[in-house]
Amino acid sequence: MRSLCTLLLLFALAQPPAAFAAEKNLVCFYDSASYLRQGFAKLLPSDLELGLNFCSHLIYGYAGLKPQTFEVFSLNVDLDMFHYHEIVLLKAKYPKMKVFLSVGGDRDVDEANPLKYLGLLESGRADQQNFIDSAISLLKRNGFDGLDLAFQLPRNKPRKVHGSVGSVWKQFKKIFTGDYVVDPLASEHKEQYTEFTQNLRTALQRSNLSLSMTVLPNVNSTWYFDVPKIKNNFEFINLLAFDFLTPERNPEEADYTAPIYPPVEQNRLPHYNIEFQVDYWLQNQCPAQKLNLGIATYGRAWKMTPNSGFSGAPVVPETDGPAPAGLQSQIPGLLSWPEICAKMPNKVNAEYRGENAPLRKVTDLQQRYGNYALRPADDNGEHGIWVSYDDPDFAAIKASYVRTKGLGGVALYDLSYDDFRGLCTGSRFPILRAIKHFL
Ligand SMILES: *[C@@H]1O[C@H](CO)[C@@H](O)[C@H](O)[C@H]1NC(C)=O
Ligand SMILES: *[C@@H]1O[C@H](CO)[C@@H](O)[C@H](O)[C@H]1NC(C)=O
Repeated sequence: MRSLCTLLLLFALAQPPAAFAAEKNLVCFYDSASYLRQGFAKLLPSDLELGLNFCSHLIYGYAGLKPQTFEVFSLNVDLDMFHYHEIVLLKAKYPKMKVFLSVGGDRDVDEANPLKYLGLLESGRADQQNFIDSAISLLKRNGFDGLDLAFQLPRNKPRKVHGSVGSVWKQFKKIFTGDYVVDPLASEHKEQYTEFTQNLRTALQRSNLSLSMTVLPNVNSTWYFDVPKIKNNFEFINLLAFDFLTPERNPEEADYTAPIYPPVEQNRLPHYNIEFQVDYWLQNQCPAQKLNLGIATYGRAWKMTPNSGFSGAPVVPETDGPAPAGLQSQIPGLLSWPEICAKMPNKVNAEYRGENAPLRKVTDLQQRYGNYALRPADDNGEHGIWVSYDDPDFAAIKASYVRTKGLGGVALYDLSYDDFRGLCTGSRFPILRAIKHFL
């Protein structure tokens, strides 16, 4: 808390009067799947509304891509047929907020057609017109202001430890032809993406619709994005610079999932940090104003083993994949911010042992890499957990970084994993608020 206050003071002194500061984007992702969660995790439009004051854009996730015809379609018709409308109606109360529909993300999972987004790029002008026409009609019919492309392109290969093979690796095995070549046709795909997005933009503009893009975690911008040529096709570009390491991708080592700067001491891949990713786009002539930095409202949690040691200092060795799912989020290895907060020492859990014993928090005093919390494995080798996350304080540090770099703003991913009920400290959407305050 002290660091937050110091920062606050510094910025109060350093900030130019609001009238002269360019308005920053705060792009809020809304995953409609959160409407279907159980218990405290269910996010209703009435909860959502409490955050919308802070959002310049709301991005509704996700629509999918039909593998044969390349049409954009609703992934959950039963929900979307009323929910699109419900969400778009919120614009009446927040008229300055734009609502976009996003295609892809990690929701459009299609195991039979894992490469369909590459298929779209390769399909040529006639098939791509199906994408364009179906997208425009879906947007217009439901009152959206724009489209967001969050294409599932092949990811950077995770570093291997002990030559073991993770599940993500197996899934994409087809496209790995060698140790470093994930997509042998990447340069063709890059050209195709440029042309496709140019045509898409022209068509959307004619219909008074906006276009943005979102670079998913670990999609390698060097391979797929010809930055100088595509930058003007988009109103803004969201860099989801987190999940550089995850328990699925890197089951046997745990590390900061979204550091701002490259941690120096150890042998790490140089591109797994925010500074590298942002600089890549800037060095390739993307105006800083176009870029929104992605900040996650969830953390990634690994299982610590007796061989992972007690200190928790990353890189943590010999972890054993994802820690058990949180009660609310129900995804192994992923904990929402309120779930992480509940595991920190408090009056209730102080006496708990075993799987409910509180975690030890380690705050990054250098404000460069992020915070983590841990509970080493017990004498039976059980209940070990190591979690890397951004709390409201560290999200604020990232927002300050965005200002310093002169970026366009922040893309928050996503609202449903922020503490929208105020369970942690009583403040609702604390991460969103902290970002807005420092932006
Ligand atoms: C274009 O879209 C914007 C918002 O997305 C709206 O305010 C404006 O009225 C639209 N213009 C036309 C001509 O439809
Ligand atoms: C893409 O991957 C290569 C290594 O395969 C790496 O050298 C490069 O920095 C990556 N680019 C980005 C933008 O992460």
